[in-house]
Amino acid sequence: MSKIDFTGRVAIVTGAGAGLGRNHALELAKRGAKVVVNDLGGARDGTGSSDSAANKVVEEIKALGGEAVPNYDNVATVEGGENITKTAIDAFGKVDILINNAGILRDKSFAKMEEANWDAVGAVHLKGAYCVTRPAYINMRENGYGRIVMTTSGAGLFGNFGQTNYAAAKMGIVGLTNVLKLEGAKYNIKVNILAPVAATRLTEDVLPPPIFEKMKVEFVTPAVLYMCSEQCNDSGVIINAGLGYYSRSAMLTGPGAILSDGKKIPTPEEVMENWDKITSLEGPKYFDQLNEMFGEIGSLLQ
Ligand code: NAI
Repeated sequence: MSKIDFTGRVAIVTGAGAGLGRNHALELAKRGAKVVVNDLGGARDGTGSSDSAANKVVEEIKALGGEAVPNYDNVATVEGGENITKTAIDAFGKVDILINNAGILRDKSFAKMEEANWDAVGAVHLKGAYCVTRPAYINMRENGYGRIVMTTSGAGLFGNFGQTNYAAAKMGIVGLTNVLKLEGAKYNIKVNILAPVAATRLTEDVLPPPIFEKMKVEFVTPAVLYMCSEQCNDSGVIINAGLGYYSRSAMLTGPGAILSDGKKIPTPEEVMENWDKITSLEGPKYFDQLNEMFGEIGSLLQ
């Protein structure tokens, strides 16, 4: 088994002042990466800011003999995102690895979901992924190497009551990744997605206490480190990780039903009659990109 080693690699971890991000940063540094520890240092709902969260983790890394610099920018702004990559280039010359991890929560049932809570969560998770990734990606492209890990959530992949804002933003990240994996392929930039479950301040009132105590962030980070490694050649994969369980989630398409010869328009009644077949997920297929899906209806295009 080849050892995963980040000597000579430069990594950015957003939201690395606490929780999952802190552990990702520590473990990357232990294996030789030079790390930019980004954290705005605000509250769980995204309000406020402080330098202390990022500073503390930088001190922890240095105490272990690693190399790290802090960055206090807000991931949700273009200037913040640019400054995060600039911090990496100024301190260490390049960016090899980016972990988009920063996150906030503002849960409300949909009827009570005011615009401010919708926008704030979308700004950090989805716009933040755009703002931080773009400058880092441009540097990776110039270097012909990059590993990006996005952080989604089971709330988006499967649904979770009271989290329409968060779920929508987290699924936006999946769409971003589906395209970026294609655009980055020829530059050896791999973009994968983590769907974690771990005990942090985001989950302290969500997970029941006995489960919370067991769900250590340490269980999640090994999957992230592999996805950040040279050895990882997959791109666009979604990995669920928590408590030592790792699995893949994916957008799959059922075999479907052909109700036309490509000329005759089917009636809604024909759709109704065939609904079970249309919605069946037996023998599903995975499409690596949209064009592959068109291949399925090739015979109807002739
Ligand atoms: P956490 O609250 O412990 O850590 C998030 C960090 O992001 C905090 O230190 C916070 O200051 C920082 N942050 C927030 N907004 C920021 C901004 N605008 N700019 C820079 N930094 C900012 O939470 P946790 O659980 O470690 O979350 C990490 C990621 O994992 C998030 O994206 C979260 O949505 C995701 N996630 C976590 C799950 C869990 O079970 N803990 C489940 C699914 C997803």
